[in-house]
Amino acid sequence: MSQRTNAHRSAGSGGAAPAAAEPGSVLRFDEVRENPRVRIYVRKADEALAEIGYTEHGERHVGLVARIAFNVLKRLGYPERQAELAAIAGYLHDIGNAVNRDHHAQIGAVMAMQILTAMGMPDEEILVVLGAIGNHHENDGDPVSPVAAAVTLADKSDVHRTRVRNPDMIKFDIHDRVNYAVEKSFLNVDEAGKQITLELTVDTKISQVMEYFEIFMTRMVASRKSAKFLGVSFGLTVNGNRLT
Ligand SMILES: [Fe+2]
Ligand SMILES: [Fe+2]
Repeated sequence: MSQRTNAHRSAGSGGAAPAAAEPGSVLRFDEVRENPRVRIYVRKADEALAEIGYTEHGERHVGLVARIAFNVLKRLGYPERQAELAAIAGYLHDIGNAVNRDHHAQIGAVMAMQILTAMGMPDEEILVVLGAIGNHHENDGDPVSPVAAAVTLADKSDVHRTRVRNPDMIKFDIHDRVNYAVEKSFLNVDEAGKQITLELTVDTKISQVMEYFEIFMTRMVASRKSAKFLGVSFGLTVNGNRLT
C-alpha cells in the first residue's frame, strides 16, 4: 500500500483533505495549490534537486506533507483554519530548493511571502505560514507555532521507496538506500493517547535499521521536539517494534 493512501487514511474523518474553497476573502488551500506560479515553483524546485541527486521533492512530496500537516492539527483539535494554514505551508515548504538547497527553508519563506501577498492573504496569516516554512529544516528550525510543528512532523515522516529516482543508485547512496527500503510509512496520530507514532515497514535486506538512524537521527529529534510543542509524545516503530 502506498504512503499516499496511508496519509489520506490518517485523516480518520472520511479522508479529510483540506477544506474546499468557499466564497469569501479567505485564501483556500486549493487556490494556492492550483496557482500557476506555485505549480512552476514546485516543479522547478524538484528539478533543481534532481540535478544534484536528491530524492523526489515535487508534487507527490509536498502534496503529502500538506495533507499530513493538515491532519495532524485537525486530529489534535486545532481550528480548521490553522490546519488549512499548515496545509498551505506544507505545500510551499520546499520551493526554496529552486534557488539553493542550503538555506532553502528561509529562502522559500521569502518566496512564499511574495506569492501569498499577491494572492491577498492577510499578513497575520502569511507570517504563520512563513514561520512554518522557514523552520521546517531539521538542522536550523524550531517549532515556533502549531503550524510549524505540524509541517515539520509531516515533512520528516515522508520516507518512502517512491522517492528514489533511480533504484540503481541504492548500492551507492545511503539516502536512496534507506528511502528505497521503506515499503510503508504512516504517521499515526493518537489524539486520545496523546501520541504521534511514525510507523515504518522496512525491508532490512536492502537497508539495516541502523542506516536509518545514521541519516535520520536529527529528523527524529526534530519530530520529537515538534510533537512536544503540540503537547503529545513522539514514537517510532519499525516492522512493528517500538524503538522510542
Ligand atoms: Fe525541505
Ligand atoms: Fe520537504
